[in-house]
Amino acid sequence: MRAHPAGPRHGEIPADHSSILPVDLNDLDPAVWPRGADRSAGVLTLAGNDVRDLAAEYGTPLFAMDEQDFRSRCQDFADAFGSAADVHYAAKAFLSSHIVKWLAQEGLSLDVCSGGELGLALRAGFPAERIGFHGSNKSQAELEAAVDAGIGAIIVDSFDEIERLVEIAGTGSIGAGRPGGARSGTAIRVMIRVTVGVEAHTHEFIATAHEDQKFGFSLAGGDAMEGIRRVVAGPGLELVGLHSHIGSQIFDPSGFEVSAHRLVRLLEQAIVEYPELADTVTTLDLGGGLGIAYTSTDTPPSVDAMANSLTEIVERECQASGLVVPRIAVEPGRAIVGPGTVTVYRVGTIKDVHLDGGVVRRYVSVDGGMSDNIRTALYDADYTVVLASRSSAAPAARCRVVGKHCESGDIVVRDCYLPADLAIGDLLAVAATGAYCYAMSSNYNRLPRPPLIAVADGTSRQLLRRETDDDLMHLETW
Ligand code: LLP
Repeated sequence: MRAHPAGPRHGEIPADHSSILPVDLNDLDPAVWPRGADRSAGVLTLAGNDVRDLAAEYGTPLFAMDEQDFRSRCQDFADAFGSAADVHYAAKAFLSSHIVKWLAQEGLSLDVCSGGELGLALRAGFPAERIGFHGSNKSQAELEAAVDAGIGAIIVDSFDEIERLVEIAGTGSIGAGRPGGARSGTAIRVMIRVTVGVEAHTHEFIATAHEDQKFGFSLAGGDAMEGIRRVVAGPGLELVGLHSHIGSQIFDPSGFEVSAHRLVRLLEQAIVEYPELADTVTTLDLGGGLGIAYTSTDTPPSVDAMANSLTEIVERECQASGLVVPRIAVEPGRAIVGPGTVTVYRVGTIKDVHLDGGVVRRYVSVDGGMSDNIRTALYDADYTVVLASRSSAAPAARCRVVGKHCESGDIVVRDCYLPADLAIGDLLAVAATGAYCYAMSSNYNRLPRPPLIAVADGTSRQLLRRETDDDLMHLETW
């Protein structure tokens, strides 16, 4: 089984999963491609931009992000959860200064998990009181920066962190803070990250998952309640919510049901011990994880369906316990930024390998690879790829799209069908690469990171330019 940071379920995809032969290789499944994708004229266009023009202007490989797709998915979440909930975009999926501004305009909140993400958000002008800060090992400097900026809440992950925050609250070195920010009055607003013993990925979840992981306070082991006690006892801290995150790429809401149930039980227990918490613990944060379609065989629930289930679950659980229904918070990353971006590559070499049983696998090498998309190599992730620069009526050839890195595991799409007349110089587009691709990109083999282009209404602009040789040299001390 392969390791996966979001949990082991991702790792159980069989290594030799076979791609389903599409009826028409030119088809663009709307569940997989950006909302602004079209190929009615043969060539793939994104928000009215011909991919050949994008490739000519910006070079390949490139990430092209459909701005309206991103914004409309923010609106989908805001509409589905309504005014009784807070939708925090999870910055780790992908962040740039422009994304920060779009999120602010769309009225979303933001989750960060490092000083780097926090710094970018603040510099791009994101309202501090709408930021939550996660992380299992936040440094003293990161915590001070968060408190000093007056962020909405710090999601505490350990007893050590509680101690650090008590110390920070006690020092006069931190500025006055902003009204409604991390300190209401003088208190630092915190949530407790609870490890609820649920692990959910794609179609399955485990309700009795081992809490043998680095994040959060164990519920079963009693640490979560002890964490609450220490926050309550900690001078200068105010407990404003309970948090759990159960996994990523989730299709089935039942895992959230178990997690919400356990969080509500904990809240009930906490209020019995500290009745005053009934007034301050106003948020139940269920984390991120709503899945997306990477291929036509993926069938995630709609945002509406997920929002209805979560709201219904929390209301039901609170009514059963006689608790006032708290605000729900969710933290989608992938479901907002994933589907609207495609990666455009140029084909460089093609070779056929003859396998047992007369099967031919065509290796199609492109000009990027595991440095711009590590997910296939790391998680055995599946992607959809098409010939983008033209349509083709040629029969299907069984292909593997690979990158240009010096590593045989450098695979972009393990098993796919592409037209048999695919030629050197053609452009390929890989769908749904907005989440955890650029964000996890590297300079492996000293490849420069591709540019990230926003497309909208027939126009394009760079959100992030391509790295240059100078960029790659600038850390050298010579
Ligand atoms: N909130 C918390 C506390 C998280 O840890 C995560 C993701 C999210 C929200 C956002 O989850 P999303 O809605 O994007 O699934 N690199 C992996 C995913 C790791 C996710 C880690 N935590 C991947 O490429 O699949």
